[in-house]
Amino acid sequence: MEEAKPVHDIDILLVDDEADFRVVIAKRLGRRGIRVHEAPGGEEALRLLEETPLDVVVMDIKMPGMSGIDALRRIKERHPVAEVILLTGHANTQDGVDGIKSGAFDYLSKPVELEHLIRKITQAHNKIGRFRSARQEAEFRERVKQQMVVAERLVALGTMASGVAHEINNPLAIIQDAAGWLRQILAKPEMEDMPRRGDFEKALDRIHNAVQRARVVTHQLLQVVRTQSTELSDPTRMRAVDLKQLVEESISLVESEAESKGIKILVESAEPPPSAWTDPYQLLQVLLNLLANSIQATGAGGRITIALRASLEEAKVEVNDTGSGISKENLNRIFEPFFTTKGVGEGTGMGLYVSWGIVSKLGGLIAVESQVGQGSTFTITLPVKR
Ligand SMILES: Nc1ncnc2c1ncn2[C@@H]1O[C@H](COP(=O)(O)OP(=O)(O)OP(=O)(O)O)[C@@H](O)[C@H]1O
Ligand SMILES: [Mg+2]
Repeated sequence: MEEAKPVHDIDILLVDDEADFRVVIAKRLGRRGIRVHEAPGGEEALRLLEETPLDVVVMDIKMPGMSGIDALRRIKERHPVAEVILLTGHANTQDGVDGIKSGAFDYLSKPVELEHLIRKITQAHNKIGRFRSARQEAEFRERVKQQMVVAERLVALGTMASGVAHEINNPLAIIQDAAGWLRQILAKPEMEDMPRRGDFEKALDRIHNAVQRARVVTHQLLQVVRTQSTELSDPTRMRAVDLKQLVEESISLVESEAESKGIKILVESAEPPPSAWTDPYQLLQVLLNLLANSIQATGAGGRITIALRASLEEAKVEVNDTGSGISKENLNRIFEPFFTTKGVGEGTGMGLYVSWGIVSKLGGLIAVESQVGQGSTFTITLPVKR
C-alpha cells in the first residue's frame, strides 16, 4: 500500500524549455496540491512574474536563449522575495554551485527525484512565509512607533494650547459679561434716543459672535486634553454600535450640503454590517468632522466613499474622498490643534485634533493616507469588543 503523502497548497513557476518535462512534472506536482505555472524560457518567466506574483521558481539551468543563471539574477533583482530552485545536468554540479552564489535557494540534478523536489519547494515556500511574517511584524511595529510619536507630540501641543485656553477663558467670560451689561443698558427706555444706538448694538453683536467663536475653540481644546487623562469619559455611553447605521446617520446630516456641491456619498459595507464597542455620540462627531473636511476638499463631480470592514478584533471605517489630497509636509501636521490651510473664518484647525482625541479615548486609532490631486483616506480603527 502506498503511504499517504501530504498535500500542499503552493503555486510555483516551472521554467524549462522541454515541454514534455514540464507536462509530466506539472501533473505529478499537481496531484500533491502544488499548482504549476509554466514558462519555456527566462524571458517568458520574467514576463509571467510581472503579471502573476509567484514566490517559488523551479528552473532549468541549460536553456536556449537566456541562460538559467542570467534568468536567476534578473528574477532576484526584480523579485527579491522569490526563491529559485535550479535544475542542473547530472554531470554539471558546478553550475548549481554557481547558481547558489548568484542567489539560488538550492539546486537539484536531473533527473529529479519527485519527493526531493517537493521537499525543496516546501522549504523555499516556508522560508518566504517566515520572511513575510517577519516583515509584517516589523512594519506593524514601525506603525505603532509612528503613532506613538504623533500621540506624544499632540499631547504636548494640546497641553500647551489648553494652558492658553484656560487663561483666555476668564477674560472671555469678563468680556461677555460686560457686553451683556452694556446691552441691558442700551435696552433701557431712557436710551431709546441715544445717538448712534444702532451702531453700538452692531458692535455688541460683533463682540458677542467673536467671543462665541473663541469659546468654542477653548472648549474643544480643554475637552480633548481633559478627556485624555481619563480612560473613557463616560463609560455608560459605550455600547455595541452598528457602524453602518451610524455612518448613514452622519451622511443624512451632510447630504444636502454635498448634493449642492455635486458630490456623491457612497457606503460600502461588509456583510453583516460590522459593529464596534464605542460611544455613538462621540463617533458621530468624528464622522461629521471627516465628512466636513472631505466635502470641503472635493469639487463638483467628486465622490466620498465610506467603507466598513471588520475582523474578530477590530472594525475599520474608511472615509475616502476624491478631493485635493494633502501634501507630504502637511500630512505630518494635520492632527495638530490649530493646523489649518483654510482661510480665517473658514476653519479653525480643530476638527482633526478633536477627532484624534476622541478616537484615542475610545481605544482606537485614526490614520491618513493621501496623494495630492488624487484624494485622501482617513481610517478609523476601533475595538469590536468591550
Ligand atoms: N479630506 C481632506 N482632504 C484634503 N485636506 C484635508 C482633508 N482633511 C483635512 N485636510 C487638511 O487638514 C487640515 C486640518 O483639518 P481640520 O479638520 O483639523 O481643520 P479645518 O478643517 O481646517 O478646520 P475646522 O475643522 O476646525 O473647521 C485642513 O485645513 C486641510 O488642509
Ligand atoms: Mg475640519
